[in-house]
Amino acid sequence: MRISIIGAGYVGLVTAACFSELGHEVHLVEIDREKAGAIDRGIAPFHEPGLEALLKKHLLRNLEITCEYQEIAGSECTFICVGTPSSPDGSADLCFIRSAAHSIGDALKGEGDPHTVVVKSTVPPGTTRTVVAPAVMEAFGRQDGLITFAMNPEFLREGRAVEDFFHPDRIVIGYSEDIACRKVAALYDGIDAPIVTSGLEAAEMIKYASNAFLAAKISFSNEIGNICKRLGIDVYEVMRGVGLDTRISPQFLNAGAGFGGSCFPKDVSALIHLAESIGEEPRILKSVMEVNEHQAFRMITMLESRIGDLCGKQVAVLGLAFKDNTDDVRDSRAIPVISALVDRGAVVRAFDPLANTAMARIFPGINYYGSAEEALTGADACLVMTEWPEFAQLEDEFDRMKSRVIIEGRRILTCKEKEGICW
Ligand code: UGA
Repeated sequence: MRISIIGAGYVGLVTAACFSELGHEVHLVEIDREKAGAIDRGIAPFHEPGLEALLKKHLLRNLEITCEYQEIAGSECTFICVGTPSSPDGSADLCFIRSAAHSIGDALKGEGDPHTVVVKSTVPPGTTRTVVAPAVMEAFGRQDGLITFAMNPEFLREGRAVEDFFHPDRIVIGYSEDIACRKVAALYDGIDAPIVTSGLEAAEMIKYASNAFLAAKISFSNEIGNICKRLGIDVYEVMRGVGLDTRISPQFLNAGAGFGGSCFPKDVSALIHLAESIGEEPRILKSVMEVNEHQAFRMITMLESRIGDLCGKQVAVLGLAFKDNTDDVRDSRAIPVISALVDRGAVVRAFDPLANTAMARIFPGINYYGSAEEALTGADACLVMTEWPEFAQLEDEFDRMKSRVIIEGRRILTCKEKEGICW
Protein backbone atom coordinates (compact mmCIF):
# COMPACT_ATOMS: atom_id res chain seq x y z
CA MET A 1 0.00 0.00 0.00
CA ARG A 2 1.18 3.56 -0.55
CA ILE A 3 1.08 5.32 2.81
CA SER A 4 2.24 8.59 4.39
CA ILE A 5 3.48 9.23 7.91
CA ILE A 6 3.52 12.67 9.47
CA GLY A 7 6.35 13.31 11.92
CA ALA A 8 9.78 11.64 12.00
CA GLY A 9 9.98 11.56 15.80
CA TYR A 10 10.39 8.37 17.73
CA VAL A 11 7.09 6.79 16.77
CA GLY A 12 6.88 8.13 13.21
CA LEU A 13 10.38 7.16 12.14
CA VAL A 14 10.23 3.66 13.61
CA THR A 15 6.75 3.12 12.13
CA ALA A 16 7.88 4.37 8.71
CA ALA A 17 10.97 2.15 8.64
CA CYS A 18 9.02 -0.90 9.81
CA PHE A 19 6.12 -0.42 7.38
CA SER A 20 8.64 -0.15 4.55
CA GLU A 21 10.17 -3.44 5.74
CA LEU A 22 6.67 -4.95 5.45
CA GLY A 23 6.75 -3.95 1.76
CA HIS A 24 4.67 -0.76 1.75
CA GLU A 25 5.65 2.38 -0.15
CA VAL A 26 6.16 4.94 2.61
CA HIS A 27 6.33 8.74 2.41
CA LEU A 28 7.56 10.25 5.65
CA VAL A 29 6.81 13.95 6.13
CA GLU A 30 9.06 15.88 8.53
CA ILE A 31 8.92 19.67 8.56
CA ASP A 32 12.30 20.09 10.29
CA ARG A 33 14.62 20.26 7.24
CA GLU A 34 17.80 19.51 9.13
CA LYS A 35 16.31 16.39 10.73
CA ALA A 36 14.81 15.27 7.41
CA GLY A 37 18.18 15.77 5.70
CA ALA A 38 20.01 13.60 8.24
CA ILE A 39 17.40 10.84 8.01
CA ASP A 40 17.65 10.98 4.22
CA ARG A 41 21.35 10.16 4.61
CA GLY A 42 20.40 7.14 6.75
CA ILE A 43 21.21 8.77 10.10
CA ALA A 44 18.58 8.30 12.84
CA PRO A 45 18.27 11.33 15.19
CA PHE A 46 18.20 8.98 18.22
CA HIS A 47 19.65 5.63 19.20
CA GLU A 48 17.38 2.70 18.37
CA PRO A 49 18.75 -0.78 17.69
CA GLY A 50 18.01 -1.97 14.13
CA LEU A 51 16.56 1.34 12.93
CA GLU A 52 19.47 2.65 10.85
CA ALA A 53 19.84 -0.73 9.16
CA LEU A 54 16.19 -0.50 8.05
CA LEU A 55 16.65 3.10 6.88
CA LYS A 56 19.69 2.19 4.82
CA LYS A 57 17.86 -0.78 3.34
CA HIS A 58 14.71 1.11 2.31
CA LEU A 59 15.71 4.73 1.54
CA LEU A 60 15.99 5.17 -2.23
CA ARG A 61 13.72 2.12 -2.56
CA ASN A 62 10.30 2.18 -0.90
CA LEU A 63 10.91 4.81 1.83
CA GLU A 64 11.10 8.51 1.06
CA ILE A 65 11.45 11.44 3.46
CA THR A 66 10.17 14.86 2.49
CA CYS A 67 9.38 18.24 4.08
CA GLU A 68 6.30 18.73 1.89
CA TYR A 69 2.79 17.67 2.87
CA GLN A 70 1.86 17.69 -0.84
CA GLU A 71 3.68 14.34 -1.12
CA ILE A 72 0.83 12.61 0.70
CA ALA A 73 -1.47 13.07 -2.29
CA GLY A 74 -1.80 9.69 -3.97
CA SER A 75 -1.39 7.64 -0.79
CA GLU A 76 -4.21 5.55 0.65
CA CYS A 77 -3.53 6.22 4.32
CA THR A 78 -1.84 8.94 6.35
CA PHE A 79 -0.63 8.27 9.89
CA ILE A 80 -0.36 11.20 12.31
CA CYS A 81 2.68 10.58 14.53
CA VAL A 82 3.41 14.06 15.87
CA GLY A 83 4.15 14.78 19.53
CA THR A 84 1.52 15.47 22.20
CA PRO A 85 3.66 17.12 24.90
CA SER A 86 2.42 18.08 28.37
CA SER A 87 0.97 21.57 28.81
CA PRO A 88 2.00 23.34 32.03
CA ASP A 89 -1.23 22.10 33.69
CA GLY A 90 -0.44 18.45 32.78
CA SER A 91 -3.01 18.19 29.97
CA ALA A 92 -1.99 16.95 26.50
CA ASP A 93 -1.05 19.83 24.21
CA LEU A 94 -2.74 19.12 20.86
CA CYS A 95 -1.28 22.01 18.84
CA PHE A 96 0.90 19.74 16.65
CA ILE A 97 -2.04 17.40 16.10
CA ARG A 98 -4.27 20.27 14.98
CA SER A 99 -1.74 21.70 12.57
CA ALA A 100 -0.89 18.26 11.11
CA ALA A 101 -4.61 17.53 10.61
CA HIS A 102 -5.12 20.85 8.89
CA SER A 103 -2.10 20.35 6.61
CA ILE A 104 -3.31 16.84 5.67
CA GLY A 105 -6.76 18.15 4.66
CA ASP A 106 -5.12 20.90 2.66
CA ALA A 107 -2.76 18.51 0.86
CA LEU A 108 -5.64 16.18 -0.05
CA LYS A 109 -7.84 18.97 -1.46
CA GLY A 110 -7.63 18.04 -5.13
CA GLU A 111 -7.81 14.27 -4.49
CA GLY A 112 -10.63 12.12 -5.80
CA ASP A 113 -9.66 8.78 -4.20
CA PRO A 114 -10.62 7.48 -0.75
CA HIS A 115 -8.13 8.24 2.01
CA THR A 116 -7.90 7.16 5.64
CA VAL A 117 -6.35 9.41 8.25
CA VAL A 118 -4.98 7.34 11.15
CA VAL A 119 -4.02 8.87 14.48
CA LYS A 120 -1.06 7.05 16.06
CA SER A 121 -0.01 9.79 18.48
CA THR A 122 -1.20 9.32 22.06
CA VAL A 123 -4.26 11.57 22.34
CA PRO A 124 -7.05 12.00 24.90
CA PRO A 125 -10.29 10.13 24.10
CA GLY A 126 -12.39 12.12 21.66
CA THR A 127 -9.47 13.77 19.88
CA THR A 128 -9.71 11.83 16.60
CA ARG A 129 -13.44 12.52 16.28
CA THR A 130 -13.67 16.06 17.64
CA VAL A 131 -10.28 17.61 16.84
CA VAL A 132 -8.60 15.70 14.00
CA ALA A 133 -11.60 14.92 11.79
CA PRO A 134 -13.05 18.46 11.84
CA ALA A 135 -9.62 20.04 11.16
CA VAL A 136 -8.95 17.69 8.22
CA MET A 137 -12.45 18.16 6.78
CA GLU A 138 -12.40 21.92 7.14
CA ALA A 139 -9.15 22.20 5.19
CA PHE A 140 -10.25 19.52 2.68
CA GLY A 141 -13.37 21.58 2.03
CA ARG A 142 -15.76 18.78 0.85
CA GLN A 143 -18.02 16.37 2.76
CA ASP A 144 -18.16 13.60 0.14
CA GLY A 145 -17.26 10.67 2.44
CA LEU A 146 -13.90 10.13 0.73
CA ILE A 147 -11.95 10.67 3.93
CA THR A 148 -12.33 8.21 6.80
CA PHE A 149 -10.66 8.09 10.22
CA ALA A 150 -9.03 5.51 12.45
CA MET A 151 -7.01 5.44 15.67
CA ASN A 152 -4.14 2.97 15.95
CA PRO A 153 -2.10 3.50 19.14
CA GLU A 154 1.50 2.34 19.37
CA PHE A 155 2.96 0.23 22.17
CA LEU A 156 6.63 0.46 21.21
CA ARG A 157 9.26 0.58 23.92
CA GLU A 158 12.31 2.74 23.31
CA GLY A 159 15.38 0.64 22.82
CA ARG A 160 13.23 -2.29 21.63
CA ALA A 161 10.92 -0.46 19.25
CA VAL A 162 11.79 -2.28 16.02
CA GLU A 163 11.46 -5.66 17.73
CA ASP A 164 8.16 -4.56 19.34
CA PHE A 165 6.77 -3.41 15.97
CA PHE A 166 7.21 -6.86 14.42
CA HIS A 167 6.18 -8.81 17.53
CA PRO A 168 3.38 -6.86 19.22
CA ASP A 169 1.13 -8.37 21.88
CA ARG A 170 -1.83 -6.89 20.00
CA ILE A 171 -2.75 -4.38 17.31
CA VAL A 172 -5.50 -1.97 18.35
CA ILE A 173 -7.64 -0.32 15.67
CA GLY A 174 -10.33 2.17 16.61
CA TYR A 175 -12.60 3.17 13.76
CA SER A 176 -15.95 4.55 12.79
CA GLU A 177 -16.18 3.36 9.15
CA ASP A 178 -15.49 -0.31 8.24
CA ILE A 179 -13.30 0.60 5.31
CA ALA A 180 -10.89 2.48 7.59
CA CYS A 181 -10.55 -0.56 9.85
CA ARG A 182 -10.00 -2.96 6.94
CA LYS A 183 -7.35 -0.72 5.43
CA VAL A 184 -5.36 -0.33 8.66
CA ALA A 185 -5.60 -4.07 9.41
CA ALA A 186 -4.32 -4.89 5.90
CA LEU A 187 -1.23 -2.79 6.53
CA TYR A 188 -0.17 -5.19 9.29
CA ASP A 189 -0.55 -8.30 7.12
CA GLY A 190 2.31 -10.62 7.93
CA ILE A 191 2.43 -9.70 11.61
CA ASP A 192 1.25 -12.45 13.91
CA ALA A 193 -0.79 -10.68 16.60
CA PRO A 194 -4.44 -10.44 17.61
CA ILE A 195 -6.23 -7.42 16.19
CA VAL A 196 -8.44 -5.64 18.70
CA THR A 197 -11.04 -3.44 17.07
CA SER A 198 -13.01 -0.81 18.95
CA GLY A 199 -14.56 2.59 18.67
CA LEU A 200 -12.23 5.55 18.15
CA GLU A 201 -12.50 6.75 21.74
CA ALA A 202 -11.92 3.28 23.24
CA ALA A 203 -8.72 2.89 21.18
CA GLU A 204 -7.50 6.25 22.45
CA MET A 205 -8.29 5.19 26.01
CA ILE A 206 -6.63 1.75 25.63
CA LYS A 207 -3.31 3.52 25.15
CA TYR A 208 -3.69 5.75 28.24
CA ALA A 209 -5.02 2.92 30.40
CA SER A 210 -2.17 0.61 29.33
CA ASN A 211 0.54 3.12 30.16
CA ALA A 212 -1.17 4.12 33.41
CA PHE A 213 -1.48 0.48 34.46
CA LEU A 214 2.20 -0.24 33.71
CA ALA A 215 3.20 2.89 35.63
CA ALA A 216 0.96 1.75 38.50
CA LYS A 217 2.71 -1.65 38.57
CA ILE A 218 6.04 0.14 38.98
CA SER A 219 4.82 2.50 41.72
CA PHE A 220 3.15 -0.42 43.48
CA SER A 221 6.42 -2.39 43.42
CA ASN A 222 8.27 0.66 44.69
CA GLU A 223 5.88 1.08 47.59
CA ILE A 224 6.13 -2.61 48.50
CA GLY A 225 9.93 -2.24 48.16
CA ASN A 226 10.02 0.71 50.54
CA ILE A 227 8.06 -1.31 53.11
CA CYS A 228 10.24 -4.40 52.51
CA LYS A 229 13.43 -2.39 53.02
CA ARG A 230 12.27 -1.34 56.50
CA LEU A 231 11.48 -4.97 57.31
CA GLY A 232 14.77 -6.32 55.92
CA ILE A 233 12.98 -8.25 53.17
CA ASP A 234 14.28 -8.42 49.58
CA VAL A 235 11.52 -6.96 47.37
CA TYR A 236 12.98 -8.72 44.30
CA GLU A 237 12.42 -12.09 45.98
CA VAL A 238 8.92 -10.97 46.88
CA MET A 239 8.02 -9.77 43.39
CA ARG A 240 9.41 -12.93 41.80
CA GLY A 241 6.86 -14.82 43.85
CA VAL A 242 4.10 -12.33 43.12
CA GLY A 243 4.77 -12.08 39.36
CA LEU A 244 4.42 -15.81 38.75
CA ASP A 245 0.69 -15.41 39.34
CA THR A 246 -0.50 -15.33 35.72
CA ARG A 247 -3.08 -12.70 36.66
CA ILE A 248 -0.21 -10.35 37.56
CA SER A 249 2.75 -11.32 35.24
CA PRO A 250 6.42 -10.85 36.12
CA GLN A 251 6.97 -7.76 33.99
CA PHE A 252 7.22 -4.19 35.26
CA LEU A 253 7.62 -5.25 38.87
CA ASN A 254 11.22 -4.02 39.16
CA ALA A 255 11.35 -1.69 42.15
CA GLY A 256 13.79 1.20 42.13
CA ALA A 257 14.15 4.92 41.43
CA GLY A 258 10.84 5.06 39.53
CA PHE A 259 9.70 5.50 35.95
CA GLY A 260 10.85 8.20 33.55
CA GLY A 261 10.78 8.71 29.80
CA SER A 262 8.63 10.61 27.37
CA CYS A 263 5.49 8.53 27.95
CA PHE A 264 4.56 7.32 31.43
CA PRO A 265 4.89 10.64 33.34
CA LYS A 266 3.23 12.60 30.51
CA ASP A 267 0.42 10.11 29.89
CA VAL A 268 -0.48 9.56 33.56
CA SER A 269 -0.52 13.37 34.07
CA ALA A 270 -2.76 13.82 31.02
CA LEU A 271 -5.16 11.15 32.30
CA ILE A 272 -5.29 12.82 35.73
CA HIS A 273 -6.02 16.15 34.09
CA LEU A 274 -8.70 14.62 31.87
CA ALA A 275 -10.38 12.89 34.83
CA GLU A 276 -10.44 16.06 36.90
CA SER A 277 -11.78 18.10 34.01
CA ILE A 278 -14.85 15.85 33.92
CA GLY A 279 -15.42 15.88 37.69
CA GLU A 280 -13.65 12.62 38.66
CA GLU A 281 -11.06 12.31 41.42
CA PRO A 282 -8.35 9.91 40.06
CA ARG A 283 -6.97 8.77 43.42
CA ILE A 284 -4.88 5.82 42.21
CA LEU A 285 -3.35 7.76 39.31
CA LYS A 286 -2.35 10.62 41.62
CA SER A 287 -0.71 8.17 44.01
CA VAL A 288 1.16 6.56 41.11
CA MET A 289 2.74 9.93 40.34
CA GLU A 290 3.35 10.81 44.01
CA VAL A 291 5.17 7.55 44.74
CA ASN A 292 7.23 8.06 41.59
CA GLU A 293 8.26 11.60 42.49
CA HIS A 294 9.13 10.52 45.98
CA GLN A 295 11.47 7.68 44.93
CA ALA A 296 14.07 10.08 43.49
CA PHE A 297 14.24 11.96 46.78
CA ARG A 298 14.73 8.72 48.68
CA MET A 299 18.04 8.40 46.83
CA ILE A 300 19.11 11.77 48.26
CA THR A 301 17.79 11.14 51.77
CA MET A 302 19.58 7.80 51.87
CA LEU A 303 22.79 9.40 50.59
CA GLU A 304 22.65 12.12 53.25
CA SER A 305 22.09 9.54 55.95
CA ARG A 306 25.28 7.75 54.81
CA ILE A 307 27.70 10.63 54.13
CA GLY A 308 26.08 13.61 55.89
CA ASP A 309 26.01 17.13 54.42
CA LEU A 310 26.45 16.90 50.64
CA CYS A 311 28.04 20.35 50.23
CA GLY A 312 31.43 19.93 48.53
CA LYS A 313 31.09 16.11 48.34
CA GLN A 314 32.00 14.38 45.08
CA VAL A 315 29.06 12.23 43.97
CA ALA A 316 29.36 9.88 40.99
CA VAL A 317 26.06 9.43 39.12
CA LEU A 318 26.14 6.33 36.92
CA GLY A 319 23.36 6.30 34.33
CA LEU A 320 21.62 9.38 32.95
CA ALA A 321 19.23 7.92 30.34
CA PHE A 322 15.69 7.21 31.57
CA LYS A 323 16.42 3.50 31.04
CA ASP A 324 19.05 1.30 29.40
CA ASN A 325 19.63 0.98 25.66
CA THR A 326 18.66 4.56 24.84
CA ASP A 327 20.24 8.02 24.79
CA ASP A 328 16.90 9.58 25.78
CA VAL A 329 16.97 11.59 29.03
CA ARG A 330 13.41 12.94 28.89
CA ASP A 331 11.95 12.85 32.42
CA SER A 332 14.85 10.61 33.48
CA ARG A 333 14.92 9.98 37.22
CA ALA A 334 18.53 11.16 37.11
CA ILE A 335 17.23 14.72 36.54
CA PRO A 336 15.59 15.35 39.95
CA VAL A 337 18.49 13.53 41.62
CA ILE A 338 21.17 15.66 39.93
CA SER A 339 19.10 18.78 40.59
CA ALA A 340 18.92 17.97 44.31
CA LEU A 341 22.67 17.22 44.42
CA VAL A 342 23.49 20.53 42.73
CA ASP A 343 21.13 22.43 45.07
CA ARG A 344 22.95 20.94 48.05
CA GLY A 345 26.36 21.98 46.71
CA ALA A 346 27.60 18.49 45.77
CA VAL A 347 30.08 18.08 42.90
CA VAL A 348 28.42 15.76 40.38
CA ARG A 349 30.60 13.30 38.40
CA ALA A 350 28.29 11.88 35.71
CA PHE A 351 28.64 9.02 33.27
CA ASP A 352 26.27 7.32 30.84
CA PRO A 353 27.25 4.99 27.99
CA LEU A 354 25.05 6.96 25.54
CA ALA A 355 23.37 9.93 27.20
CA ASN A 356 26.19 12.27 28.40
CA THR A 357 25.58 14.69 25.50
CA ALA A 358 21.82 14.77 25.99
CA MET A 359 22.15 15.40 29.74
CA ALA A 360 24.75 18.13 29.17
CA ARG A 361 22.00 20.16 27.48
CA ILE A 362 20.02 20.09 30.75
CA PHE A 363 22.96 20.32 33.19
CA PRO A 364 25.86 22.00 31.36
CA GLY A 365 27.63 22.80 34.64
CA ILE A 366 28.28 19.29 36.03
CA ASN A 367 31.24 17.03 35.16
CA TYR A 368 30.85 14.32 32.50
CA TYR A 369 33.24 11.39 32.08
CA GLY A 370 33.88 8.90 29.32
CA SER A 371 33.76 5.85 31.59
CA ALA A 372 32.33 4.71 34.90
CA GLU A 373 35.88 4.28 36.19
CA GLU A 374 36.73 7.95 35.61
CA ALA A 375 33.47 9.13 37.20
CA LEU A 376 34.12 6.96 40.25
CA THR A 377 37.74 8.03 40.81
CA GLY A 378 37.94 10.04 44.04
CA ALA A 379 34.14 10.03 44.59
CA ASP A 380 32.73 10.14 48.12
CA ALA A 381 29.66 8.21 46.98
CA CYS A 382 28.01 6.71 43.91
CA LEU A 383 24.36 6.68 42.82
CA VAL A 384 23.23 4.27 40.09
CA MET A 385 20.28 5.73 38.17
CA THR A 386 19.92 3.57 35.02
CA GLU A 387 19.69 -0.21 34.54
CA TRP A 388 22.53 -0.42 31.98
CA PRO A 389 23.53 -4.14 31.82
CA GLU A 390 27.22 -3.16 31.55
CA PHE A 391 27.11 -1.73 35.08
CA ALA A 392 26.84 -5.34 36.26
CA GLN A 393 30.49 -5.83 35.19
CA LEU A 394 31.77 -3.02 37.45
CA GLU A 395 33.85 -4.34 40.34
CA ASP A 396 37.42 -3.01 40.80
CA GLU A 397 36.32 0.37 39.43
CA PHE A 398 34.61 1.03 42.78
CA ASP A 399 37.97 0.68 44.57
CA ARG A 400 38.90 4.03 43.03
CA MET A 401 36.32 5.82 45.17
CA LYS A 402 37.43 7.82 48.20
CA SER A 403 34.82 6.02 50.28
CA ARG A 404 32.79 3.04 49.15
CA VAL A 405 29.22 4.31 49.51
CA ILE A 406 27.21 2.85 46.63
CA ILE A 407 23.44 3.33 46.40
CA GLU A 408 21.56 1.63 43.58
CA GLY A 409 18.36 3.13 42.19
CA ARG A 410 18.17 0.13 39.82
CA ARG A 411 18.93 -3.45 40.78
CA ILE A 412 21.85 -4.03 38.41
CA LEU A 413 25.20 -4.17 40.25
CA THR A 414 26.82 -7.47 41.15
CA CYS A 415 29.74 -6.03 43.16
CA LYS A 416 29.98 -6.35 46.94
CA GLU A 417 29.11 -3.65 49.51
CA LYS A 418 26.26 -1.77 47.89
CA GLU A 419 22.80 -0.83 48.97
CA GLY A 420 19.51 -0.61 47.07
CA ILE A 421 17.02 2.22 47.34
CA CYS A 422 14.32 -0.22 48.39
CA TRP A 423 16.13 -3.51 48.90
C1 UGA B 1 6.49 2.85 27.46
C2 UGA B 1 5.63 1.58 27.31
O1 UGA B 1 6.30 0.46 27.90
C3 UGA B 1 5.35 1.29 25.83
O2 UGA B 1 4.47 0.18 25.72
C4 UGA B 1 4.68 2.52 25.22
O3 UGA B 1 4.45 2.34 23.82
C5 UGA B 1 5.58 3.73 25.39
O4 UGA B 1 5.82 3.93 26.79
C6 UGA B 1 4.85 4.91 24.80
O5 UGA B 1 3.84 5.32 25.35
O6 UGA B 1 5.23 5.36 23.71
P1 UGA B 1 9.09 3.42 27.21
O7 UGA B 1 8.72 4.80 27.65
O8 UGA B 1 9.99 3.22 26.06
O9 UGA B 1 7.75 2.59 26.86
O10 UGA B 1 9.78 2.76 28.47
P2 UGA B 1 9.56 1.49 29.43
O11 UGA B 1 10.41 0.38 28.98
O12 UGA B 1 8.12 1.22 29.60
O13 UGA B 1 10.15 2.07 30.80
C7 UGA B 1 9.61 3.26 31.39
C8 UGA B 1 10.29 3.58 32.69
O14 UGA B 1 9.90 2.65 33.70
C9 UGA B 1 11.83 3.53 32.67
O15 UGA B 1 12.32 4.65 33.37
C10 UGA B 1 12.16 2.25 33.39
O16 UGA B 1 13.40 2.33 34.05
C11 UGA B 1 11.03 2.17 34.40
N1 UGA B 1 10.73 0.79 34.84
C12 UGA B 1 10.29 -0.14 33.96
C13 UGA B 1 10.83 0.47 36.20
O17 UGA B 1 11.21 1.31 37.04
N2 UGA B 1 10.53 -0.79 36.59
C14 UGA B 1 10.09 -1.74 35.74
O18 UGA B 1 9.80 -2.88 36.19
C15 UGA B 1 9.98 -1.41 34.38
